[in-house]
Amino acid sequence: MKIGVAGIGTVGVGVIKILEQHGQLLSDRCGQDLEITAVSGRDRRKDRGVSLDGMTWYDNAVDMASDPNVDLVVELIGGSDGVANDLCRAALKAGKSVVTANKALIAVHGTELATLAEDKGISLNYEAAVAGGIPIVKAMREGLAGNAISRVYGILNGTCNYILTEMEETGGDFDAILSDAQALGYAEADPSFDVDGVDAAHKLAILTSLAFGTPVDFDSVYIEGIREISALDIAFAKEFGFRIRLLGVARKTEKGIEQRVHPCMVKKDTPIANVSGVFNAVVAEGDFVDNTVYEGRGAGEGPTASAVVADIMDIAAGRTCPTFGIPVRKMIDIPKVAVEEHVGCYYVRLNVFDRPGVIADISAVFRDEEISIESLLQRGRSPEEAVSVVLTTHEVKEAAIVKALAKIEKFDHSVGTPRMIRIAKL
Ligand SMILES: NC(=O)c1ccc[n+]([C@@H]2O[C@H](COP(=O)([O-])OP(=O)(O)OC[C@H]3O[C@@H](n4cnc5c(N)ncnc54)[C@H](OP(=O)(O)O)[C@@H]3O)[C@@H](O)[C@H]2O)c1
Repeated sequence: MKIGVAGIGTVGVGVIKILEQHGQLLSDRCGQDLEITAVSGRDRRKDRGVSLDGMTWYDNAVDMASDPNVDLVVELIGGSDGVANDLCRAALKAGKSVVTANKALIAVHGTELATLAEDKGISLNYEAAVAGGIPIVKAMREGLAGNAISRVYGILNGTCNYILTEMEETGGDFDAILSDAQALGYAEADPSFDVDGVDAAHKLAILTSLAFGTPVDFDSVYIEGIREISALDIAFAKEFGFRIRLLGVARKTEKGIEQRVHPCMVKKDTPIANVSGVFNAVVAEGDFVDNTVYEGRGAGEGPTASAVVADIMDIAAGRTCPTFGIPVRKMIDIPKVAVEEHVGCYYVRLNVFDRPGVIADISAVFRDEEISIESLLQRGRSPEEAVSVVLTTHEVKEAAIVKALAKIEKFDHSVGTPRMIRIAKL
């Protein structure tokens, strides 16, 4: 099988290395020799630490799609639009299967691209796009195919998980830990895609489609990142027996589908709470299989290339599957539920002056919004300085919490904006 690889950065180089090192093994396993015949990048002169001898170089990656010496296109450039999108479309229209690691592309254009692939009877594989080296797409698309999935959730961004784990272990604040993560290469110079939750949301949108057979709908994912998580919240979480994790959650409810990415308090004894550092984990709940848990490296040259190569091998071996496990024409556009409709328990941290009657005023607001408090604690005692009042609630609709916090923020004895973190029921 003749392969064109567009994008020879971290992942592209990893793919070249695996094909070099395991050529015979891969060929024995998938029944064909795998040969990279074409590559594309921006800088032809860059030393990439691997040999590109004998491979045709394309300055314009899209031209690779019409190269008769390329049977399969591997897109490892990135970005939801531009050359990555143009190349994938051109390849699929030319009847060539596509493998990509590009979550942004699949989250934004996945359904259209799947239609192109299905019309031609070819494959669009994207294992590396969700949780890097963890074969979660294959698990959802094939391994759990006999189940109706009720919920899929997980830690989908290693950078955020690294930062939250380090904050917990060192007691440091977000900004300081982010700088360390950047110095260590665990966070990008511009970390916004990761820490603001967008990267996890791309992956969640894809998981939602795989789980519920709906068109990919990235725009309706509720997204909240980890910038506002403070060392204080992490410390209080510990006291309540929780850890804080950035979770992506897709859940089917009677009203429709919830798709949300936000920090969560998770009980310390759950599998998800024990996923540390740059690792990713996904839990899928099926009606017959019950809970299944997948954990591993969600990024990096080796793990991501491992997933890309597995996708290439499926195509070489003739193993095909509809892009989202169900043909596009069979997909059902299930309504999405707004986050305000979410019913769950909440952690709330207020900053108030320790004056007589404050707790009574707070309790009155919660009573008026019909929010039942599970526990409440106050730290510090000083009439001159604001102190933290932290509480957890029983199950309530999110809209009620939002309303209550807006009222409390207006109190004379309130300082700053109250913090709220959802407590995950895992
Ligand atoms: N890195 C990971 O751990 C990881 C994990 C999961 C998924 N992914 C996904 O994998 C994809 C690739 O990521 P990466 O980390 O390998 O990125 P990267 O290291 O930045 O590499 C990107 C490659 O694309 C090339 N490129 C950029 N613009 C191009 C253009 N217009 N035409 C042709 N080539 C172009 C670059 O060429 P030059 O080298 O010449 O600049 C570079 O080789 C992305 O979609 C990413 O989201 C990455």
